[in-house]
Amino acid sequence: MANERTLSIIKPDATERNITGKIISKLEDAGLRVIAQKRVWWKKKDAKDFYEVHKERPFFKDLVAYMTSGPIVIQVLEGEDAVAKNRQVMGATSPVDAEDGTIRKEFGVNIERNSVHGSDSVENAKKEIDMCFSKKEIVG
Ligand code: TYD
Repeated sequence: MANERTLSIIKPDATERNITGKIISKLEDAGLRVIAQKRVWWKKKDAKDFYEVHKERPFFKDLVAYMTSGPIVIQVLEGEDAVAKNRQVMGATSPVDAEDGTIRKEFGVNIERNSVHGSDSVENAKKEIDMCFSKKEIVG
């Protein structure tokens, strides 16, 4: 098992409901360690750049509007198999499909307002971490 890093975002529906601590507890309980964290409010360009891979998808415009509708908490998580482990703790994209005990099952509102983002591969994790944090903001 590899020690990995992944990017996590606590989305506006969760910051609005003041449940960032509950979400971070679930990540920590799963063995993930927060080694960088900041609270930001994205401009349209930030969200468009981050979700560029989805720019042709029908939900893109709404996703950008949603991700810029309030503050988010962006984190780098570190741990054994951090990318897969975080995806497991997050649960399926839509809360109705997510397994019991997952963040999206417990806290997600719907497929768009699903409380968290997590990188889907080691390669994308590297890209997303570089996009969101400088080297000195990450203290492993
Ligand atoms: P995706 O990368 O497919 O899911 P995940 O976040 O589980 O990796 O989609 C990115 C985000 O886009 C997703 O978290 C919520 C939003 N989205 C929608 O709003 N509607 C949809 O139909 C899909 C597939 C995603």
